[in-house]
Amino acid sequence: MNGSLTRLLINIDHVATLRNARREAFPDPAEAARLCEASGADGIVFHLREDRRHIQDHDVVRLKQVVRGKLDFELSTNEEMVSICCATNPDLATLVPERREEITTECGLDVIRHQTILSNTVARLRQAGIDDVALFVDPDPDQIRAVRDTGASAVELHTGDFANAAAGEEQLYEVQQLARAADVAHECGLTIHAGHGLDYNNYDLFARSVPHVCEVSIGFAIVARSVFVGLGAAVAEMAQLVKGHHVS
Ligand code: PXP
Repeated sequence: MNGSLTRLLINIDHVATLRNARREAFPDPAEAARLCEASGADGIVFHLREDRRHIQDHDVVRLKQVVRGKLDFELSTNEEMVSICCATNPDLATLVPERREEITTECGLDVIRHQTILSNTVARLRQAGIDDVALFVDPDPDQIRAVRDTGASAVELHTGDFANAAAGEEQLYEVQQLARAADVAHECGLTIHAGHGLDYNNYDLFARSVPHVCEVSIGFAIVARSVFVGLGAAVAEMAQLVKGHHVS
């Protein structure tokens, strides 16, 4: 145990999804970001998609202005997105796969297959002054070793299969895959982030089982809970859960 607490970064894409559903100017993702930070979040995550289905370019400008903690810009290797990310200069850039027909990000990057473009993109982001670059991958040791070879500083472990697993043996199997992947990433000298599908029910098992995770990115569960209890309370509840565990 190194004593530090896992950081909670909140993905506010779904606030923009709600706004766009009515083509209104509210709810404002930047206002949500401010409230998340005031309620215990250590930073904010957004994904600027090529189809702009939720976060818009003007949101990126506002988020850069208002976020006081860590700002994580999720993007694909698409040229336009990389240029916007470089101009924004977030604290962290996280590269993710993107398919137009998907409802949400469905799996991690195939870093082994796309090593060249990913390495080039990592280099470009770093040259633009973004020191922290993460690659989002499934908990597969070979993919994680490939992340190290791209020059990225961090890996974000895809927790979606764990989140979707049935409670019991299946869930235990998936959490063990994540724990093994985290050990490999640690041996590779990568900083370890995690996210996708983490929620109020599965977080405790995840945090007790998976070592070295210094940052989690959680969105849907928090925004969904905010419908019933308000965003501030939903964030505070999740922050309490996340801060209840030390990084081991
Ligand atoms: N990390 C990545 C790379 C993602 O694409 C997402 C979903 O946008 C998340 C974390 C957060 O997932 P969720 O909204 O299920 O908490």
